[in-house]
Amino acid sequence: MKTTHTLKTFIRNIPKAELHIHIEGSLEPELMFEISRRNGLSLPFSSVEEVRRACKFKNLQSFLDIYYEGVRVLCQKQDFYDITWAYLKRIHAQNVCHTEIFFDPQIHTDRGIPFELVVTGIHQALQNAQQQLGISSKLILCFQRCLSIESAMKTLRQALPFKEWITGVGLDSSEVGHPPHKFAPVFEKAMEEGFLTVAHAGEEGPAEYIWQALEKLKVSRIDHGVHCVEDARLIKKLVAEQIPLTVCPLSNVKLHVFNNLAEHNVKHLLGLGLCVTVNSDDPAYFGGYITENFLAIQEALNLDRHEIYQMVKNSFQATFLNDKEKQGLLDRLEKFMFQDSQKDLVKNKGISYDMRKASHC
Ligand code: HPA
Ligand code: ZN
Repeated sequence: MKTTHTLKTFIRNIPKAELHIHIEGSLEPELMFEISRRNGLSLPFSSVEEVRRACKFKNLQSFLDIYYEGVRVLCQKQDFYDITWAYLKRIHAQNVCHTEIFFDPQIHTDRGIPFELVVTGIHQALQNAQQQLGISSKLILCFQRCLSIESAMKTLRQALPFKEWITGVGLDSSEVGHPPHKFAPVFEKAMEEGFLTVAHAGEEGPAEYIWQALEKLKVSRIDHGVHCVEDARLIKKLVAEQIPLTVCPLSNVKLHVFNNLAEHNVKHLLGLGLCVTVNSDDPAYFGGYITENFLAIQEALNLDRHEIYQMVKNSFQATFLNDKEKQGLLDRLEKFMFQDSQKDLVKNKGISYDMRKASHC
């Protein structure tokens, strides 16, 4: 009981990075209503509770249908600023020090909202987070794979004037029936323009889509990737090259990729030596932010301190930061681990932590 309590505290306090979060999926129902009111728009839900009740999904598509409904309230630059800022404040309270955020411009530009307005609102919040909260970040533009390659190419052209603010491009939305190879020309052009690449693959789709993301889209990370277990040769490659998987446990259960967390393969994948990271995906819809994801898998899979530490370390190493910045995060992590181990030592010897701290200062 006591161990569980300290492990929970450890999870809450350990400095973390998040690498898989759709900013539009962080729109909490309360803010959805507030923004819809100020924009004079109606929602297909009558109350916050009704939105929460609607958060029972059969699969990825049934989630996306509701996600697209909620997103329709976002119209002004201030709206994009506000959702991003709300997410950043939440993760600040969870000791996240670096985040890499997806945004889905086509959902907005297809409604007539200018690309510039979307990206500027998000960027301003990210800049403020660096200054006021000490959170560093990267922004990743996602193409919707259910739309055409022409639409993706047009979106890439819209992004070019904002290259300084956008580090990478990704691929999201309905996976099955939309194989990554379809988007190879867009990803090739994006790489020529200096963008890094990632893609959702192996969430609902097969291991074959992960191969395509690696070989045709040249991605640096796989988003989700949990279906890699179907293919031993793929596992071997992912381990050998330490290609990160941005796993989202609560999302996978909500969308029925796994029946429950006890059946989730995150611990198995970590044990195989894969570079597994833990992330929230769409926290407003899937029941929690990054800390809730860690807490839930710890409990369901009986993860120990070292496994939590390893996944946090993986996420720092998998960021799109430069080597010096990465080292800064890794140093912070090691300092935290040292202090945490000292706390245990002190507790076991019955000395108060304050006394130990005083003698170290
Ligand atoms: N999966 C795929 N596409 C998405 C998701 C997701 O969880 N959220 C927003 N777009
Ligand atoms: Zn996702």
